[in-house]
Amino acid sequence: MKIFITRVLPPEGLALLQRAAVNVTQWEEKRNLSREELIAHCQQYDALLLASDNIIDRGFLQQCGHLKVISLLSVGYDKVDIQAANELKVPVTNTPGVLSSATADTAFLLMLAASRKAFFQHKRIIRGEWGFSEPTANLGIEIEGKTLGIWGLGNIGYVMAQRCISAFNMRVIYCNRGRNEEAEQKLGAVRVSFDELLSQSDVLSVHTALTPETAGTFNMAAFSKMKPTSIFVNTARGAIHNEADLITALQQRIIWGAGLDVTNPEPMSKDNPLLDMPTVAVLPHIGSATEETRNAMAVMAAKNIIAAMNGEPLPNQVTSL
Ligand code: DGY
Repeated sequence: MKIFITRVLPPEGLALLQRAAVNVTQWEEKRNLSREELIAHCQQYDALLLASDNIIDRGFLQQCGHLKVISLLSVGYDKVDIQAANELKVPVTNTPGVLSSATADTAFLLMLAASRKAFFQHKRIIRGEWGFSEPTANLGIEIEGKTLGIWGLGNIGYVMAQRCISAFNMRVIYCNRGRNEEAEQKLGAVRVSFDELLSQSDVLSVHTALTPETAGTFNMAAFSKMKPTSIFVNTARGAIHNEADLITALQQRIIWGAGLDVTNPEPMSKDNPLLDMPTVAVLPHIGSATEETRNAMAVMAAKNIIAAMNGEPLPNQVTSL
């Protein structure tokens, strides 16, 4: 089987594919493949390992319907038209579970960075502004004993809650469609309505998938119900918040701060006003970017390819056929 990988794969995944005698071609250029280029490349391969942000829509799938699998190097699969993949019988797989800790760590980092204005303070050093300090200037707020609200308490939210309880003895509330009994029993998490989540959270961390239902949920109507001292954290998908509304909510002090690993759009423009706000911390979508996690993801993505090659059930299939 010949597979095309849209990036250089972390070494453990690559080694696994090579041991399984998969014929691998990696895209090694430091630029994104255009849609047309990717479609053209795929014509020469049996499977695609997608490690880039290319959108896999119906038109793409129609032109690449011969692929035996599209193995995503991500847990999120919002860039794929899953309904079309089902209809066209192109199996799609993802990498669930292995990136929960790294992504939760990123949410924790952003919560703390925003609360202590850390990125802003760092920039002050670079600008040569460390010379004069005032006891009242640039103060942060503390997290200890406050309420963490989680929207979408699954694997990643669970680890974020664990971290926040052990480090800061936080109370945890969450809003999910269904109950998370394990989180209720083991972490004392309390399920609340969406409005209660907004009004009670000191830190509101988003850990849900991007779907047509969740897109744009955090807009001005939602921010207006949050505490003026609250911090909004998003490590899920940028399209879940309305970025113009977030900017206004911060400028008008409707909420206190924000920590974002995901933005809308991505990449964020270097002129985005969020980057100059003291109480905002932004990272360039690095939630899973550790040696350990990226290798674990690559191994999982490779196993999905190898299963397809051997005609076995795909371990992490998100399509239903
Ligand atoms: C994921 O795995 O979904 C990460 O957000 C990378 O896209």
